[in-house]
Amino acid sequence: MLTVIENVFSKEEIASFRESLDRANWDNGLETAGTIASLVKQNEQLNENSPLARQLGQRVLQRLGNHPLFMSAALPNIIYPPKFNRYHSGGHYGLHVDSAVMAVPGSDRLMRSDLSATLFLCEPEEYEGGELMVEVRFGAQAAKLSAGDLVLYPSSSLHQVLPVTQGARVCCFLWLQSMVRDEENRTVLFDLDQSIQSLTASVGRNSAEVLRLTQVYHNLLRRWADT
Ligand code: NI
Repeated sequence: MLTVIENVFSKEEIASFRESLDRANWDNGLETAGTIASLVKQNEQLNENSPLARQLGQRVLQRLGNHPLFMSAALPNIIYPPKFNRYHSGGHYGLHVDSAVMAVPGSDRLMRSDLSATLFLCEPEEYEGGELMVEVRFGAQAAKLSAGDLVLYPSSSLHQVLPVTQGARVCCFLWLQSMVRDEENRTVLFDLDQSIQSLTASVGRNSAEVLRLTQVYHNLLRRWADT
């Protein structure tokens, strides 16, 4: 399942991201590709140790950590430091699957990738092509979102970024390990949480129904969460 979260950043905030990113030095993405990825990957990446990547990555993490819809959909436990990439002049990333287990930079921890996220830092009109195509159970789904919007998709899926034939596609992406490993359980929790939120808006948080459903939510999370 693909989950789209709109307006994670405002247009003004995106403009300030882009002001720095458009002036930055970009590395060839091949330098950070594994053996399999190097056959299909053609893009540019911001050096993840650069002060700019760290600073912007921090802003993304801070925003997501306070974003109720993101937290509800992802239930993150560990988030890999966000990376920034750029595709232009035919740049693309062919069909691949993300590594299942990765070392968390700056620590001796390993994490499992459950969800991948792409945050769009450019408008769809700025480039031709560049769709993120994700193979889900019922076929391939495309994402080419407005600047400031984010898409979450299962790291277990085969996915690709189609060639960017004109203009440039600038995005931020990250992986995360969720507290709830099983995608279907995570979806149940997300649906339940969203229903509780809308019920709360109509009947108030102290109604008996909201309290009971909130109890059910937390007790399911208690059964399924690993921390
Ligand atoms: Ni990928």
